[in-house]
Parts: sequence; C-alpha cells; structure tokens
Amino acid sequence: MTNDRPRVFVTRQIPAPALARLSAVADVDLWPGNLPPARSELERRVAGCAGLLSLLSDRIDGALLDRAGSSLRVISNYAVGVNNIDRVAARQRGIAVGNTPGALTDATADMAVLLLLAAARRFSEAILQVRQRLWRTWEPLGLLGRELRGRSLGIVGAGRIGEAVAERLHGGWQMQIHYTSRQAKPQWEQRFGARRMELDDLLCTSDFVSLHCDLNPSTHRMIDARRLSLMPLHAVLVNTSRGEVIDQAALYHALACGRLLAAGLDVTDPEPLPAESPLRSLPNCIIAPHIGSATVEARTAMAEIAVDNLLAGLEGRPLPHAVST
Ligand code: GLV
Ligand code: GLV
Repeated sequence: MTNDRPRVFVTRQIPAPALARLSAVADVDLWPGNLPPARSELERRVAGCAGLLSLLSDRIDGALLDRAGSSLRVISNYAVGVNNIDRVAARQRGIAVGNTPGALTDATADMAVLLLLAAARRFSEAILQVRQRLWRTWEPLGLLGRELRGRSLGIVGAGRIGEAVAERLHGGWQMQIHYTSRQAKPQWEQRFGARRMELDDLLCTSDFVSLHCDLNPSTHRMIDARRLSLMPLHAVLVNTSRGEVIDQAALYHALACGRLLAAGLDVTDPEPLPAESPLRSLPNCIIAPHIGSATVEARTAMAEIAVDNLLAGLEGRPLPHAVST
C-alpha cells in the first residue's frame, strides 16, 4: 500500500494538541532542536514536503522554495509577522502563506504596556540596584521616572495589537491617543478620541510612542536619527513589532545622550542582540528577548491557527488566515 499522507516539516516543537491534530493526517517531520534548523538542514528537510510550519526565525526565500520543489502547497508561519517569508516568491510558485493573527493580540499588547511602564519608571536600573547591592536608602531624588496619566501616546500602526494597546492605555491611564494608519479608523476616534496623524507629526507630539507596524521595505529603519530627533525631550519609545523598524545606532545615541528618557524593546536587529551590542549596557534601555506572544494562552491558540492553516492548505482549501502574497 502506498503512503499518500502528505509530508510536512515543522521547524520546532509547538504545543502538543495542535501537533497531534496535524500528525493525525500528515507525516510530520518535527525538528527536535531548541535552536532553528541550520539553513542546510532546512533545505534538506523541506525537499518534497507538501507543507511547512515555520517560525519567524526561519528565512523562507525563493531559493529554499526551489529546494522544496513543486510538492509544496502551503507555508504556515507560527507568528503574525511574515517578514521572514518572501511572499512574492511564494505567490510565483502558487504556494499559500498563512499567519496567526488575533491569538497573540492581548499578550503582545500587555508586553507593550509592560515595557512602557518599565521604561518610564526606570525599572531595569532599579532592579539592577537591588541585585548589585547598591540599594542604600530611600532617595527623594533617586530613580525618578515619568507618569503616564493624561500624557500623549503615539501608536504607529493601527492594527489589532495597536488597538489593544490604545484600549489599555486610554482606558486605564486616560492617555491621549495619536495613531498612524493608511486609512482613518472611525472606531479609534469613537472609542479613544484618537487622532490620526502623519508619522512625523505623531513623533513631534507624543510623549510615549509604541510601534505596532509590520516590517516591510517602507518601515525598514523608519525610526531613524531624523525621526528620533523629532520626539519631545525625554520621550519614551517602545517596540514590540520588529527590530528592523528602528535604526539601532541612532537609538543608541538618542538614549546615551539623554535625548530620550528610555526605550523598551521586545525586538531587536538582529535577534538575539549580539553580546557586544552597546544597547545592552545602556541603563535606560530595557530589552526583552522577543517574548510578546509568550503566554500559554497565546502560544496554544497560535498553534491551533497555524495547524488550521496548514491543514486547509494541504487539502487545497483557502487558508482561514491567509496573508496576501
Ligand atoms: C511575533 O513577533 C509574531 O510576529 O508573531
Ligand atoms: C496583529 O495582529 C495586528 O494586526 O496588529
């Protein structure tokens, strides 16, 4: 009897229930490592597969798709961002691409709020004092940060995550919301009294800025030295989108000279940030290792969506969460 189950390569262990659903219908080749498969391994394992479940750390380009051959029907990215995938190359080869929107919205919005508060309250410096036994007394003028209430918050990229951040910070701290978006968002204006602005105007007028755009050629290094110089003195910048949206050398200078109060980054360029990166040693830069969606709830739901996409693609149905290619 011939085995006509489709073969799929899954580039990392994901939550088990979703994986079991996939294994019920497909021959799953599961990468056992805790680190991404090397390029050569990815090329070898993808050859002849009908489906690929990839992570944001796997670069999926035309050359890789050629290695996969004409059997490959679907790429399901275990992430909402798909900048690791060459979507044009996928379209040219008739391969569907899916992502996991929605499932990680709350987790990522919580992370943005966490970083905003942590940066504004100089939390990494404070914690370090305790760890390094430098906590000597209660200081009237020590570790003074800034409060959020009533201040302006610029949200760059008015998608689901940006909206969930606006909901939290307008609702909880009465922040005045500014946002950038290709189209006006009437619901933002109704719910938050938000004002839509061009990016430069948003940067000039926002005490806090949180990045929620996707990474594409128009957003690559979008927050550069010129744009950082537009921000009010002692503003706070938070990034939970992709590291490449910020020119990190320019950010380093803005933070090192005290032009900005602080930054909170859940994403860097590259990841992991090299050990010698000067950003790591700045007291006013708090950096997390890309954990925006790292909750049991989000990662479980992302796995279900990723498998739904993969199963649909294997059966030749439209993906429930297709990205336009
Ligand atoms: C995480 O960064 C994602 O895009 O899902
Ligand atoms: C992601 O889900 C977004 O739309 O922000």
